[in-house]
Amino acid sequence: MADTQPTLNGIAAKIAELSETFTKYLNENNVPAPTFVADSPTSYVNLSPEIFMVRQKLLDAVNDMWYLTQGPSESIFNYVHTAMPDAAALNTLNYFDFWSAVPIDGSASYADIAKHTSLPEDVVRRILQHAITLRIFSETEPGKPSSRVQHTSRSGALARSSGLRALVSTILDDAGPPMMVMNEALQRYSRGKTELTQEMNESSFALFHSSGIYGKYNNSWELLENDGAGEKKGWRAKNFVEFMRYVKEIFHLEEIVLQSHDWKAAGDVTVVDVGGSAGHDAVVLARHFPNLSIIVQDLPKVRPVFEADLPPDFKSRISFVEHDFFQPQPVEADIYIFKMILHDWPDHEAARILRALIPALKPGARVILFEYMGKQDATEGPPLPRSIQQMGTATDLRLMALFNGKERPVDAWKNIFHAADERFEIASVKANPETFFTVVEAVWRG
Ligand SMILES: C[S@@+](CC[C@H](N)C(=O)[O-])C[C@H]1O[C@@H](n2cnc3c(N)ncnc32)[C@H](O)[C@@H]1O
Repeated sequence: MADTQPTLNGIAAKIAELSETFTKYLNENNVPAPTFVADSPTSYVNLSPEIFMVRQKLLDAVNDMWYLTQGPSESIFNYVHTAMPDAAALNTLNYFDFWSAVPIDGSASYADIAKHTSLPEDVVRRILQHAITLRIFSETEPGKPSSRVQHTSRSGALARSSGLRALVSTILDDAGPPMMVMNEALQRYSRGKTELTQEMNESSFALFHSSGIYGKYNNSWELLENDGAGEKKGWRAKNFVEFMRYVKEIFHLEEIVLQSHDWKAAGDVTVVDVGGSAGHDAVVLARHFPNLSIIVQDLPKVRPVFEADLPPDFKSRISFVEHDFFQPQPVEADIYIFKMILHDWPDHEAARILRALIPALKPGARVILFEYMGKQDATEGPPLPRSIQQMGTATDLRLMALFNGKERPVDAWKNIFHAADERFEIASVKANPETFFTVVEAVWRG
């Protein structure tokens, strides 16, 4: 079979071909192509679904090229050697906001940056020297002692986008360290068993934070709510809200919410967005459908962000209620939405969350789940590019580390409704392979 295996030249040819198709599309559609300079566009905009696929295939080929150029051993060696320093450098740059220490259209000395970040100049220099190898910042005169630091497109993207900064903070700073004790958590709690432990206090996160530097927490919501002192209290929750808003933006989730239900035909109804963050989905719904009154429920530290961000026009139709979704639902509504909530919890906890709705459910009330589509069935078409599969597999592992949770296939969501209560009747299941989202609607037949 060796002759059917990819070769360096074969992959190079494939890269040339895919890159040609991709750039032709960009040119024909006037999509500005990013470069490495600070004022470059920060992403490719308006890619059609087909050309998005081409881009992902190109990425797969580039990755294969990277692996094969190094050879198997060195590809592992080089990855292992740099993965943690890369992540630690990016997280540190982000935490100390190096992004604003350097003007986007100018430069700063290492001493300026040290002053801005209150870090020793030598530390600043060392972190930046590694970051520069990743094209995050560059030197005005590379290697010269008089050199100053300037933005590249990659550092500039972070300087420009609070959402991207929040994403780095949430994924690296909140979720990163616990992932490194996943092996120890599996060793302690799941080895020798047929299934992953479903106990929240036996996750990698809970193990890491059992005597952790930030305090003792069982899951990341507890950390988000409680970490920080004085004015910093709740800073992680605030970041998380920004992260969710960013996710909505980059994955165009607005459309998925708008098209999930016939909101207009629903009439003058009350909708509860359970775990609705600071109301970004509520605002989308309220803007398009004047017939909806929406109550956003979430944890206490989310309230200040909701209050700061709610556009005044919507004050009469969107409100915020602090509510722990494990507690009995206090609002008798017509429709409850749960967007990207249940994937954070093991099956029995997810069923508990749905069951907590029951005291408020009137016959005919609807519950709509929005979740990222889990693993594709092999019969559902050709395999997706690995670079797309990784979006799901990486989230899945993060959910395992943080919550002993998982990304689930479509059928699993039906089962969770059934496990919660037989009186939930599945009304529709929409799984869209283009958006990678599943929307499951159930009706309460109590
Ligand atoms: C992954 S986010 C999804 C947010 C929002 N639905 C969206 O799609 O953007 C999960 C949300 O659940 C909230 N949450 C976590 N535990 C909760 C609890 N026990 N009660 C209420 N909300 C909770 C978090 O604060 C967070 O806003």
